[in-house]
Amino acid sequence: MSTIQDASRLYSKFDPRTGTIDAAPRLERRLADLRGCFHDAQAYERALEQDNPLVYSVASVEPADGSGDLHCGLGVLQPGLIGNEYFLTKGHLHTWRDAAEIYICLSGEGAMLLEDEASPGSRLVPMQANSIVYVPGHTAHRTINTGNEPLVYLGVYPATAGHDYQAISRRNFQSVVVSRDGHPCLLPRT
Ligand SMILES: [Fe+2]
Repeated sequence: MSTIQDASRLYSKFDPRTGTIDAAPRLERRLADLRGCFHDAQAYERALEQDNPLVYSVASVEPADGSGDLHCGLGVLQPGLIGNEYFLTKGHLHTWRDAAEIYICLSGEGAMLLEDEASPGSRLVPMQANSIVYVPGHTAHRTINTGNEPLVYLGVYPATAGHDYQAISRRNFQSVVVSRDGHPCLLPRT
């Protein structure tokens, strides 16, 4: 028979408006934390002189760390632009490269930028309410908010996946998603 303590590992309530999951830790990334992510460095510095807004948050539930366990993160990515580039997450590969992930989009309008580590090229997959994005292993992934309201999603991934931000910070993504006449457009970083 389960105890109350056991139940707390089996059940969580989340609030998509605040980006919180019960008492789970919640990481915040502000504009100053995203240096080097945006293609227009001058626009980035100008924006940072004005303000240091919250860009996104991730609350993580990590019930157990075994090889067969799962972790889950509630992400809330705010709307906004730096120059003509939409607000984005840092993006990462998984430290355990084989690890895949699913993203379940709850609300908002955006996209997932996917880049296979072993082959050139980018794929942009839409994210909107009631959609699921599958991120294969060995694939760098970055979330982008192309809408006017927060983009809210749940990511579910193996407990042993790990997050490798270093590989992305060294070379960044090959493509950028910019606003052209109010519509998202995928362009080479150059
Ligand atoms: Fe991931």
